[in-house]
Amino acid sequence: MDIKREERKFDHIAHAVELEKGPDSAGWDDIEVIHQALFRYDLQDIDTRIELFDKELDFPLIINALTGGAKGLEKINGILASVAQELKIGLAVGSQMAGIVNKEVRHTYQITRQKNPEGLILANVSALAQPKDALAAVEMLEADALQIHLNGVQELIMAEGDRDFRGLADNVQEIITRVPVPVIVKEVGFGISKETTQQLYKLGVRSVDISGKGGTNFASIELARNPRESLEFLRHWGITTVCSLLEVKDLNLPLTVIASGGIENGLEMFKALGLGADAVGIAGAFVKTLIREGEESLTKKIIDIKEALKIIMLTSGAQKIADIKNNPLVIKGDTWFWCQQRGINIKKYAQRS
Ligand SMILES: Cc1cc2nc3c(=O)[nH]c(=O)nc-3n(C[C@H](O)[C@H](O)[C@H](O)COP(=O)(O)O)c2cc1C
Repeated sequence: MDIKREERKFDHIAHAVELEKGPDSAGWDDIEVIHQALFRYDLQDIDTRIELFDKELDFPLIINALTGGAKGLEKINGILASVAQELKIGLAVGSQMAGIVNKEVRHTYQITRQKNPEGLILANVSALAQPKDALAAVEMLEADALQIHLNGVQELIMAEGDRDFRGLADNVQEIITRVPVPVIVKEVGFGISKETTQQLYKLGVRSVDISGKGGTNFASIELARNPRESLEFLRHWGITTVCSLLEVKDLNLPLTVIASGGIENGLEMFKALGLGADAVGIAGAFVKTLIREGEESLTKKIIDIKEALKIIMLTSGAQKIADIKNNPLVIKGDTWFWCQQRGINIKKYAQRS
């Protein structure tokens, strides 16, 4: 049993619940949705359903990778799975390495499939995991897709973290060839750039979860566990979720793009979909609600997000989720400056109809 790894899982949840999001903004205030006053639809005809990784979702939301791998955590994953099943949304588990090396904690992940036999469940391992372990993670859950996380910054702050990242790209390629389900390359809160996306695409990656800066901050979490004055600057490291999404979408590659990092409500979800995300992931806001207020509050929060999304769709003239991509958006502030310098074509967002 890896006591250190198990303790770390509880530490992560405790710090994620205690810390506020940020400190830098994810950029949502830089995106303006255009109100279209001549409403066209009946609210009850607004259709939020989508298909993702061959499963139908009631709306494009995933409870993103959070936990599993220590005794007691089956409670959290069990609740998340019940909520995901009831509301017909996706669910990712936390890194499964603990369950791969120790079968005594495997049930803390497998409970998600037991509670939600038909739903969209995503497995999760490090992008540095051996391909056979990536396959074991998928089989453990009969997962519909596999998230492989790039968490290099977090590892560098952790006293017990990885230091050698040679072979990472080759390993990603190897995992893709070995695993029979879609592989989503995922950050954990520092964002994915254009250049990284191009490299990933060449390796055969067809799905990314950008997980940008502005929400849960793993530099802050690890610095709370292991304070190091010289690494304080890492709290501001990374690409905001909004800039990262604009970077990835600017490439016009046939990728499934999940937007995550600091998303908390229906308006931010709408903006992410408007910028071209296929679905949205939320981790920090949900674990805070669950731990502070309980399961009912979590369920209510998700229902509220869907209701707000539907109202914004109505006010902006979108009847289906796919229509949101045609809604004009205005891009301002720091995000505008970023796009100018990075050569990202943003005119198309403001002028489309
Ligand atoms: C307590 C906690 C544990 C997490 N564990 C994992 C993990 O094991 N694997 C992973 O890919 N991401 C993990 N994440 C990162 C989230 O999936 C997500 O990418 C990140 O928190 C940004 O989204 P947010 O701002 O909505 O929290 C974790 C997040 C939290 C809050």
